Amino acid sequence: MSNSFKIAVLAGDGIGPEVMAGARQVLDKISETQGVSFECEEKLVGGAAIDATGGPLPEDTIKTCEESDAILFGSVGGPKWESLPPEIQPERGALLPLRKHFGLFANLRPAVCFPALTHASPVKEDRIAGGFDVLCVRELTGGIYFGSPKSIEEQDGEKVAIDTMVYRASEVERIAHVAFTAAAKRDCRLTSIDKANVLQNGILWREVVERVAAEYPDVKLDHLYVDNAAMQLIARPRDFDVVLAPNLFGDILSDEMAMIAGSLGMLSSASLGKSKGDGLYFGMYEPSGGSAPDIAGQGIANPIAQILSVSMMLKFSFGLNDAADAIDGAVRQVIDKGYRTGDIYTGSDDQKKVGTVEMSEAIVNLIS
Ligand code: IPM
Ligand code: MN
Repeated sequence: MSNSFKIAVLAGDGIGPEVMAGARQVLDKISETQGVSFECEEKLVGGAAIDATGGPLPEDTIKTCEESDAILFGSVGGPKWESLPPEIQPERGALLPLRKHFGLFANLRPAVCFPALTHASPVKEDRIAGGFDVLCVRELTGGIYFGSPKSIEEQDGEKVAIDTMVYRASEVERIAHVAFTAAAKRDCRLTSIDKANVLQNGILWREVVERVAAEYPDVKLDHLYVDNAAMQLIARPRDFDVVLAPNLFGDILSDEMAMIAGSLGMLSSASLGKSKGDGLYFGMYEPSGGSAPDIAGQGIANPIAQILSVSMMLKFSFGLNDAADAIDGAVRQVIDKGYRTGDIYTGSDDQKKVGTVEMSEAIVNLIS
């Protein structure tokens, strides 16, 4: 197995660069403790790239990503670029093209509420006592995000907007395999989300997921309509293990889960393409939260989501499972020791309020 890995580091905007600094320190520590080397190349993306080059995703950034084993992504966007034409805004002009260009069809979003952080969740504590751990598997390169036609046009004297939801059976099949495989390694329960009572897409989605299920007899499958899922997830999050959803529904439900989990600042994500054959994937790893312009530059952002994204990268793209476990363990310990950035601080005596740098260092020091 290789022990040298190339990483395209795209810190982006807002809190991106601050939390990325913590992630880089973690990589340095892993490199020391595990005897592996990481070659990190920083490139521009999002608003930072617009300011420097006029566009949100320079050719040179794509090229570096193509030459790398994985992309470590921060966050993009902010008020400064919100009034630009939609196609060059950081989110639409950088994130979506990166996903499409690299065929990153499988988006894994773990929504983990640590037992010690249930108080940070807006859900009543008795419904989440002991915390929960739900994995959202979202299809990321199809559905209504990318279907054509997609336009705003003039018809009979008024504007008409068109978005098209398209799923091919093969697209549903490959994301279903990702979800079943993940469930088989966890608690063997999978909930598939659709709107089969209204959408043709829902009928096909359900049919294909049922067919794939036959290959995973150990995994218990159930189906929920997306509207019902939105209610059930908030009412009884502990009952869910893996949730599989089409692109748009997964976008919405994963934000709901993030909110229920307590802090967006804690949640990582992985966007994966096809397996390279050795069980490893090219992937893009990023915090679930955004660029948080309101707190950018103050040194108070929670670096944990970015650091846990490093852990996912080590596991899925590099096969460094021990190193990933070491990072996850250090994050758990730092929470148990009471370290809290502002987003998860509630002021009790056993908590120590810290900033981005202090939190990152505390985690680095706990990695062995
Ligand atoms: C996400 C984001 C993106 C999405 C936006 C920024 C395009 O909300 O990653 O969930 O809708 O996929
Ligand atoms: Mn989203």
